[in-house]
Amino acid sequence: MSDIQHLADKNLALDLVRVTEAGALAAARYYGRGDKEEADGAAVAAMRIAFQSVHIRGRVIIGEGEKDHAPMLFNGESVGFGDGPEIDIAVDPIEGTNAIAYGRPNAISVIGAASKGGMFNPGHSFYCKKIVVGKDAANVIDLDAPVRDNVNKVSKAIGKNPGELNVFVLDKPRHVGLIQELRLAGARVHLFSDGDVAGALMAADPRHRIDMLIGIGGTPEAVITACALKGSGAQMLTQLNPLSIEEQQSIEADGIDIKAIRSVDDLITTDTCYFAATGISEGDLLRGVEYRNEYAVTSSMTSRGRTGTQRFIEAWHNRKKLSTMSSIIY
Ligand code: FBP
Repeated sequence: MSDIQHLADKNLALDLVRVTEAGALAAARYYGRGDKEEADGAAVAAMRIAFQSVHIRGRVIIGEGEKDHAPMLFNGESVGFGDGPEIDIAVDPIEGTNAIAYGRPNAISVIGAASKGGMFNPGHSFYCKKIVVGKDAANVIDLDAPVRDNVNKVSKAIGKNPGELNVFVLDKPRHVGLIQELRLAGARVHLFSDGDVAGALMAADPRHRIDMLIGIGGTPEAVITACALKGSGAQMLTQLNPLSIEEQQSIEADGIDIKAIRSVDDLITTDTCYFAATGISEGDLLRGVEYRNEYAVTSSMTSRGRTGTQRFIEAWHNRKKLSTMSSIIY
């Protein structure tokens, strides 16, 4: 690519971050109010409006999904202005809906995007095993290996002892055995109620204290995470892990190989991919929405597969002015 082409080459993540900002600003109004549906509805509506200004022919591959009977941002819905490149979209208006409703950390509004056909469609798979590490340990993780082996190899790769390894685990009953194995291997287990996209991004980035994420989390979340990790050198390995017979049968009916181990490159097969996220509740990855007089302050990040560039963006939104221009309540 020539320098001229390079300059003209659009980084869609910079448009998508305005959409996640809209989702976060709308959702933050419902922080700690105990109502998941209300928060989710507000974020979905705001993002859908914001999507209209993005010059893509987007199709939602991963959206609110049929399980939520979502009226908007549902799988298969067209989003965007309707011109420009054809883009597959994975969107989670509130990644950590419970965290917002009950006032807990790490809820973010996220979008992953890839050029058409470049994104793994998880069909009816809701859950998968995942392990995520940064660049230095990318080649040593193994989903089939015992937990202790992964702890030992990852610690060694990043120059730590197992007793210094910080591991993100979702605090779920299904992880009781895993947590025990991690502790027996000497690792420091950090338990979080929700939000394994934020957890994965922290594990992938050596600037954060989290060194590894392991456990069973959402499959849609894994695909969104892959959009963020592509081009960074960090690695995630996943394997579908249905938690019910119904889920297993639906995946089989979709014709998806349940046993396959999929890496970042299997989940996102193109370098033309983008990621944007905005913090809603406070977190180690991104700050939550903060209110300062007439401003609402958001903290976001973007990344792009082709270049591996990451950006961290703080935006001061003038709520008074925005309220005269938009139906969204900021
Ligand atoms: P939501 O987007 O549905 O709020 O997901 C929150 C989350 O904690 C994800 O980060 C995680 O992948 C998934 O839920 C785990 O699912 P479950 O809470 O059903 O165990």
